[in-house]
Amino acid sequence: MPNVLGVDHIAIAVKDLDAATQLWKEMGLRVGSREVVEDQGVEVQMMYAGATRIELVFPIREDSPIQVFLDKRGAGLHHLALAVDDCAAATKELVDREVRMINTEPKTGAHRTRIAFVHPKATSGVLTELVEGGEGFGS
Ligand code: CO
Repeated sequence: MPNVLGVDHIAIAVKDLDAATQLWKEMGLRVGSREVVEDQGVEVQMMYAGATRIELVFPIREDSPIQVFLDKRGAGLHHLALAVDDCAAATKELVDREVRMINTEPKTGAHRTRIAFVHPKATSGVLTELVEGGEGFGS
């Protein structure tokens, strides 16, 4: 089994990053850093609910998976990210067990983390991201 250290973050797809940042700030979350993740075609605004990170995710390209999600389902909960100690090992293990993956090899995420997405069909309909090197998890 992948060695899960905790929940790294929960991601919400948004149609307007500034408006969503303001809205969640007014909901009591602390505003963290903002970063473009070219590889994923997104801009990410990190927010904090206490020590828990909430990621506001906004598409920067038409072909971004987030744009596809917004077009199909509108703004809303997008994925759950689990912190793992070794993303490559966890990914390989799931691939070997024939768990359906979106990424069969780790990619580079925000803040130079290593990430891989498990297909929601394999995880009760919840798009799940494995993250190695996330804040507060030994990075
Ligand atoms: Co994420």
